[in-house]
Amino acid sequence: KNIVILISGRGSNMEAVVRAAQAEGWPARIAAVISNRPDAAGLAFAQARGIPTAVVPSKSFSSREAFDAALQQEIDRHAPDLVVLAGFMRILTAGFVEHYAGRMLNIHPSLLPAFPGLATHRQALEGGVLEHGATVHFVTAELDHGPVVAQARVPVLPGDTEDTLAARVLAEEHKLYPYAVRLFVEDRLSIEHGDVRVLDPQ
Ligand code: GRF
Repeated sequence: KNIVILISGRGSNMEAVVRAAQAEGWPARIAAVISNRPDAAGLAFAQARGIPTAVVPSKSFSSREAFDAALQQEIDRHAPDLVVLAGFMRILTAGFVEHYAGRMLNIHPSLLPAFPGLATHRQALEGGVLEHGATVHFVTAELDHGPVVAQARVPVLPGDTEDTLAARVLAEEHKLYPYAVRLFVEDRLSIEHGDVRVLDPQ
């Protein structure tokens, strides 16, 4: 299976997926890592691993449609079976999302449906919740609302700040995302009536 990973910045989730794919010998290859920002730190890691990288600079496009069209063209050069959004900080057009329906995953740092959107750790602290976490979901046109594949939970502890909470969640993301992507590439995910089924859960 061909995986294309999209990033905008640090790329630590991309790195976790690449490391797991290589270490665990998945039936998959990381065909490309693509960023919408030329300064994304994660590009260096991918290059060091010999993974093809590309930049489609969102700033250079005058409309969302034009950017998404250019991005789609770059992604499809790599004939992806799966597109993995890993800290890709863009709102996507409905046409783009539809093109990758059932084959595009995202990781979001909250227990969806709680706290969609930005600043999820601040939202969690302000909401006074006792439990927080991360969600991997299929991408649909409504932001942060697609069918949930897997979630990881962490406690919110007294004295937590956005930074301490974010770090606790991120450590779980780095296990959760490789787990979910592996399910996909091993054909162990299916969607029935909008619900995700995991085959042979372990
Ligand atoms: C992660 O918290 C991810 O859940 C969110 O953005 C952050 C990206 O971090 N969508 P990184 O670029 O993977 O290090």
